[in-house]
Amino acid sequence: MDLLAAMKERRSARTFLDRPVARKDIEEIFTYAGLAPSAINMQPWEFVITYGEEKDRLVRRLLKARKERQVACGPGTTDPLPEKYVDRSRRAAQDMQPAVEQLGVAFNRFVEEGSCSFYGAPIAIIVTIDRRFPAIRYLDVGLSVAYLLLAAEAKGLATCPIGLITAYGADIADALSIGENKEIVLGIALGYADETAPINQFKTARAGQGEILRWYE
Ligand SMILES: Cc1cc2nc3c(=O)[nH]c(=O)nc-3n(C[C@H](O)[C@H](O)[C@H](O)COP(=O)(O)O)c2cc1C
Repeated sequence: MDLLAAMKERRSARTFLDRPVARKDIEEIFTYAGLAPSAINMQPWEFVITYGEEKDRLVRRLLKARKERQVACGPGTTDPLPEKYVDRSRRAAQDMQPAVEQLGVAFNRFVEEGSCSFYGAPIAIIVTIDRRFPAIRYLDVGLSVAYLLLAAEAKGLATCPIGLITAYGADIADALSIGENKEIVLGIALGYADETAPINQFKTARAGQGEILRWYE
């Protein structure tokens, strides 16, 4: 698959097949994730990969933490955001809504429980960065994650980045023996998408260039 096609076709998957992913395929997509550029080549990203019984244990722990603390899905900001961002997130939820309705589950519950269970994907990835890095280095980690998502797409695998699980960072760190000096910045569900599931068939919209570009000439 060519790069531009992978960029165009990638979408987040939220129902996965019960089909294992070969270890060599996982290793290969991480080879590509590691090719991302980073400031003075520090490569500040680190990934913890779980599958099988360890992943199930992590999911059980996260679902329990969710039940106790019920962290809602949101932008994670304290100050109110400009309306255009609120509007885009509202539209993302609307794009997903009809497929969630077909499942007969409340939207927030679907996203929150789904996120905590990595949407049933066979592989759960935890993305970390050393806390001693300044916030700007999270950009480098994001680049590596983007490479990872596109490499997965190119290999016929599906992903869903999952920010919600960072609300339960202490539980994850404990379950996976992640040291205190590491910050958990993202989860990623990885596997083969169930292409027949309506929840995997919608495509989110994007802002037009008029909204995100400013030409100064
Ligand atoms: C940093 C980040 C965090 C995200 N967190 C979640 C999440 O917790 N749960 C979820 O279902 N999707 C999550 N997503 C997926 C976004 O909802 C999705 O990328 C967005 O709606 C655009 O859709 P697309 O990925 O299908 O193009 C996250 C994506 C990113 C990049």
